Amino acid sequence: MQHFISVDQLTEDELYALFETAESYRFRQIIKPYNQLFAANLFFEPSTRTKMSFIVAEKKLGMEMLDHHNENSSTRKGESLYDTAKTYEAIGADVLVIRDASDDWIEDISDSISIPIINAGAGQKEHPTQCMLDLLTIFQEYGSFDGLKIVIAGDIKHSRVAHSNAAALNRLGAEVYLSAAPGFEDTSLDFPYISMDKAAEMADVIMLLRIQHERHGVSCSMDNYLDQYGLTIERERKMKNEAIILHPAPVNRGVEIDTDLVECERSRIFKQMNNGVYIRMAIITKLLEDRGSTNENTINQCQTAFLSV
Ligand code: CP
Repeated sequence: MQHFISVDQLTEDELYALFETAESYRFRQIIKPYNQLFAANLFFEPSTRTKMSFIVAEKKLGMEMLDHHNENSSTRKGESLYDTAKTYEAIGADVLVIRDASDDWIEDISDSISIPIINAGAGQKEHPTQCMLDLLTIFQEYGSFDGLKIVIAGDIKHSRVAHSNAAALNRLGAEVYLSAAPGFEDTSLDFPYISMDKAAEMADVIMLLRIQHERHGVSCSMDNYLDQYGLTIERERKMKNEAIILHPAPVNRGVEIDTDLVECERSRIFKQMNNGVYIRMAIITKLLEDRGSTNENTINQCQTAFLSV
C-alpha cells in the first residue's frame, strides 16, 4: 500500500490484518520501531480527535512529529496544499497525514509524492481512518459484520464519515440503513431510509452523526431536531439489549443525541476514540513497512553488517 486514501483500496484480508496489528499494539508496553522517522501532520481544517490520536500514534511508534500550524506557515503567503506537501517531502518527512475541506488535492498529491500519504478527512466523501476505527469498534463487539443491521443517522449529506462507512459496511456484509431529516439525505447513497423510531427498534448499531453546520454555509434551526430525528432516551429504551451507539464526535449534546446517552452503557463513543490511536498506529506501520522505510539505527546496523563482511 503506497498511500491510505480510502477504505475501498483495502482487500478484506488487509483490513482484518490492520485490526490484528491494532490489537497487538494495544497490549505492547514498549513500541518505538520508527525513531528517527518523521511524520508531518498537515491539518487545514480543525480537528481534535484525528489530529491528536495521530500524534499519540506517532509518538508511541517512536516517530518524530512535524506539527504544521497553518497560522504560522507559508500557506498564509498563498502556498498551496500541493507545494506544502512537496516541501515536507523535500525536507525529509517519511509520512504525511492530511486533512482538508476539499478532496481535489488527492489525485495530484498521490501521483506526485512518493512518501506515504494518509487521508485524515477530505471533502465530504472520505474519512478512512475514522471508518477503520468505527469498523474495529463494531468488530470488537460482534466479531463479524455479517447480517448486522447498522443505521447511520443524521446529516448524511454533508458527512464524509457516512460515505466511507456505508460503503465499507456494505462490502463487509452488514445491512446498512440511513436515517435523516429532510434536506440531510444523500440520494447518491443507495441504501434504504428509515425513521429513528424504526432504527431504535431494529438496529444492532446506531451510528449517529452531528449536523455539519460548517459545510452548509447557512445555519438552520435545531428546534425539535432531537425529538424528531435524534436519539432520545425514549428511543434508546426501545433498542435491542445488545445494541450499541457510535458517534464519530464531536457530539452536539442534546441535538442528535440526548446528553445522558453520550456516556451511557450502550455508548462506545469514547471507545471509538481509544481505538483511533491503535488503528492509526497500524495504518502508519503498514505504509512504512510496505515502503521499506527504516530508521538510522537500522541503517547503521546494515552498514556495520556490510563493513564486517
Ligand atoms: N471524528 C473526528 O474526525 O473528529 P475531529 O474532527 O475532532 O478530528
